[in-house]
Amino acid sequence: MSSTKFKQLSPAEFFYNNRSMAGFDNPTRAVYTVMRELIENSLDACDAHGIKPLIYVSLKRVAADELEVLIADNGVGVPSRYIADAFGRVFFGSKYTIRQSRGTFGLGGKMAILYGQLTTGEPVNVATSIGSDIHLVKLSIDIKLNQPIVHQKKILHNPNSYRGTTVSIKFKGDYVSARNRVIRYLRMTRIALPYASIIFFDPENQVFLAPALTESMPKPPVESKPHPYGVDIIKVKEMVDSSKREVTLLKFLQKFSRIGVTTASRFVTWLGLDPNRPVKKLSDDEIKKIVEGFKSFTFLPPDGSSLSPLGEQTIRTGLTSEYNPEFISVTTRPPSAYEGFSFIVEAALAYGGGINSENGSNEVRLLRFANKIPLIYDSSNDVAMKVIEEDIDWANYGLDPKVDPLLIFIHIAASKVPFKTAGKEYVADREEVRREIRLALRKCARDLKTYLSKKKREQNFHMRNEKLLGYLTLINKYSSALSGKAPLEGRQLGLLIKGAKWDDAKEEI
Ligand SMILES: Nc1ncnc2c1ncn2[C@@H]1O[C@H](COP(=O)(O)OP(=O)(O)OP(=O)(O)O)[C@@H](O)[C@H]1O
Ligand SMILES: [Mg+2]
Repeated sequence: MSSTKFKQLSPAEFFYNNRSMAGFDNPTRAVYTVMRELIENSLDACDAHGIKPLIYVSLKRVAADELEVLIADNGVGVPSRYIADAFGRVFFGSKYTIRQSRGTFGLGGKMAILYGQLTTGEPVNVATSIGSDIHLVKLSIDIKLNQPIVHQKKILHNPNSYRGTTVSIKFKGDYVSARNRVIRYLRMTRIALPYASIIFFDPENQVFLAPALTESMPKPPVESKPHPYGVDIIKVKEMVDSSKREVTLLKFLQKFSRIGVTTASRFVTWLGLDPNRPVKKLSDDEIKKIVEGFKSFTFLPPDGSSLSPLGEQTIRTGLTSEYNPEFISVTTRPPSAYEGFSFIVEAALAYGGGINSENGSNEVRLLRFANKIPLIYDSSNDVAMKVIEEDIDWANYGLDPKVDPLLIFIHIAASKVPFKTAGKEYVADREEVRREIRLALRKCARDLKTYLSKKKREQNFHMRNEKLLGYLTLINKYSSALSGKAPLEGRQLGLLIKGAKWDDAKEEI
């Protein structure tokens, strides 16, 4: 008889065994994912804290199929007591808060480090400072125990108060086949972040140089309280446990976003509970009643303060620098929410100029971003593509996105982006999000339609005038010969064409 064997898997072991879930399927995709995870961490350490990002990335070939990536940023740095865990323990991070950030899981950077460790056996090198001493740490991850193994540590004085982080990882990867994606990712990052400066040296000695195009930066997001629509029993129990003994139900409810003292009293009365009861004394049934009540009571929606949308000017600057289109229409939707998480959709349609019309591929040109991260893979599964293909009747606007020189830009800024995978490649088809994208795109399409009809009217008007001028020139010539008077001058003919009143024209003449 065979016996069943049980064993426990650590989080590090789990992701090590299931690398493809996080975007490390093969050496090509690994190059892109390693770079993306590290760049995202660097950008989070800058713009989420109001720092204009200055990011330096170098990718070197150190053996036939082995690369070394080095990334340096001017971000907030990592406090010394957290360095080992931040880079050596899966599910450890500073972004488990209700606030927009690129990072969410406490996993991405570690996956890059684990992947490097798995394919080359080499540890990661980190140098970081929050403005005081510089800490140099060489570490790897103990996969079984999910904890850091620190190989070397050094502290350097920092007389110039340098602040930021440098990470360097060796890993197996195929840059030649990843190059197009990597460059596309950097160009898209540039479109969303024209306020960042990015320098990338690739293994073929090519340099991608993207200095900042603008001084202005979106306002950093602020951390917000959980919204009553977005919590479950476990979360509420956790909040009850961490409350002090004397906290009453009325006070406790004010720990949620959009609940002040008035709403709290109305809610408690509606539930039929005692507002002065210490929250720690609530029974499981009463907690369940509160959580169920949260779902049916009407609260104001989340206010969007935890979000940092790009803003119209940033989007215009980014799109203009990359495509120089003839026309751009941008729409920012007001804050909305799903399951208590706030989000804002920003959309843009760019038309003409550098956006070429006959690309021959018969594909929609769609640039997708979520929390300022460019999304490159799996666009056909993304909610934005579903809206474009199923919800919008482009013919109504006289447009065909597969043929016209049209570029569609969508950014979802959310306190939690409904990504479908740990690789953060595409956004789930949630009705609330889908509706906002639909409304934003329709508004952009209306603006573009207005622009194009005006342009057409002006073109027709111009053509009509050209023709008229031809006829009038002839009439002018013959009538002057017949009457023996001097012919009118070109300027006077122009005035007639413009439709100026005859009396005005006479005065001019
Ligand atoms: N360049 C950096 N500057 C400052 N802090 C950093 C940097 N890189 C990583 N960190 C810290 O290390 C933590 C872990 O990073 P990691 O990429 O593993 O997870 P995350 O960014 O929190 O979430 P995600 O899994 O979505 O990437 C971060 O939350 C952050 O606090
Ligand atoms: Mg990260």
